[in-house]
Amino acid sequence: MLKPVEGFSKFSKEEKIDWIAKNCTSDSEATAALLKTYWNTDLKLQKVHDEFIENTVSNYYLPFAIAPNFLINGELYAIPMVIEESSVVAAASKSAKFWLNKGGFTTRVIATEKVGQVHFMYAGPKEKIQAFFNQVKPLFFEESEAITKSMRKRGGGILDIELRDLTHKLDNYYQLHCTFETLDAMGANFINSCLEQFSKTLREQAALFTDFSETEKQLEVVMSILSNYVPNCLVRAEVSCPVEALDEAGSKSSNFAQKMVQAVQIAKAEPYRAVTHNKGIMNGIDAVILATGNDFRAIEAGIHAYAAKDGTYSSLTHASITDGIFKFWIEIPMALGTVGGLTSLHPLVKLALEILKKPNAKELMQVVAVAGLAQNFAALRSLVTTGIQKGHMKMHLLNLLNQLGATETEKKTLVAYFKDHTVTNAAVKEALEKIQKG
Ligand code: MEV
Repeated sequence: MLKPVEGFSKFSKEEKIDWIAKNCTSDSEATAALLKTYWNTDLKLQKVHDEFIENTVSNYYLPFAIAPNFLINGELYAIPMVIEESSVVAAASKSAKFWLNKGGFTTRVIATEKVGQVHFMYAGPKEKIQAFFNQVKPLFFEESEAITKSMRKRGGGILDIELRDLTHKLDNYYQLHCTFETLDAMGANFINSCLEQFSKTLREQAALFTDFSETEKQLEVVMSILSNYVPNCLVRAEVSCPVEALDEAGSKSSNFAQKMVQAVQIAKAEPYRAVTHNKGIMNGIDAVILATGNDFRAIEAGIHAYAAKDGTYSSLTHASITDGIFKFWIEIPMALGTVGGLTSLHPLVKLALEILKKPNAKELMQVVAVAGLAQNFAALRSLVTTGIQKGHMKMHLLNLLNQLGATETEKKTLVAYFKDHTVTNAAVKEALEKIQKG
C-alpha cells in the first residue's frame, strides 16, 4: 500500500526514481531503467528540462513533425506540430497542399487585448464605490509604473481599468476589470503583477477614503488574476475558391461544397457535433501551440468559452457559398507569446519559432488559426466524402503493426498491402498472422 512521503521534492533525482520505482511499480529495476532511458545524454540539456517543473524524473517524448506548403497571406510556411494522433499532420499537410494553388490562406489579427481582474467584495452603496473608483483610478496607473515601465517603452501596458458591478450575480461582488496590451509576451506574469499592485492600491486607498464608513473601508479583495478568456484578442483565417475548384477535394456528383456548408451548419446547430468538430480544430491548434512552447490549457479554455459565447456551444468555423464562391473561415481568440516562457529555454521551441521565421505574437496567432482551419477542412472533407476511418486507419496502421510486434519487413509488406485494402484492427491482425505463417 502506498504511504505518504515526506520531503519528496528535496530528494535527489535518483532518490525520487528509486522511491517511485519501489513504491508504485511492480518491477523497480525496469522502472528505473525506463525512466533513465528517456534522459538526455547531454546533461546540460537534461538540466534545462529538469528545471522546467518540480520533481522531474524523466522526459516524456511526443513526435515533433512538420506540415509543409502552407501559403499564408502570400508567404510560404512549414508548420511545426507536436502531437501524438497519427492522422493530424498528414491531414494538415493535405489541406495545405490543396489550398496552395488556390490562393492559400488569408489571415488577419482583429485585436490583441488581454484581460485581468481584481475580484473584491464591498458592502455599501454603489454610488460611493463608483465615486471612490473615479477618484483613485489614476493611482492604479501611477503605483504600477515600476512594473509597466519596460512594457510601456515597447508600446504596451495597461489599456484601461473599469469598475464592474456584479452584485446582480453575487452579493457585494465587484471587479476591477482591466485590459492590457502585452505585445509579443503572452503576458501572464506582467498582468498578474499589475493586478496584485492594483489590489494593494485598492485596499490602501479604501482605508483612506473619508466617505466610506468603517465597514466600507474594509472592502475585501478575494483574488487578482488574469483571465484566459480573451474575446478581444482575436484572429481570423480564411480560404475561398470557386465551387468548381473544390471538385478535386470531393466527388463531383456529391455536391461537395454544399455538403461542407451543411457539415458546418450542423456543428453550429448541435453541441454534440460542435464539440467533436471543434476538437478536430484543436488538433491543429494545440499541435502548434505545443511546438511553440505556448500554454495549450489557456488556449483550450479560452477558445471553448468563445465557442459558447452566444449561449450555446457552437462551431468555431463558418462556411458559405455566395455567387459560386465557397468561403470557409475561423475566428478565434488566443493570447500567445513568442518571447518569455519556454520560448528561449526549450531548444525545440526555439527551433519551431525559427522554422516559422521568428514570428511576433500576431504572426503566430495567424499561423495557429490557419492550422485550426486546415485541420477542420481536412476532417470535414473526409467526413462528407469517404468517411473518417479510411484515412485515419491508414495512418494508424503503423501503430497497430507496432502493437502487434511486426518486424520492419512485415511492416513494409503490410503497408504496401493495405494501400488498397481496408484497415481494421481485425484485418491487420489477420494479414500479419498470414505472413507470419508463411
Ligand atoms: C479526430 O481527432 C477529429 C475528428 O473527429 C474531427 C471531426 O469530427 O470533425 C475527425
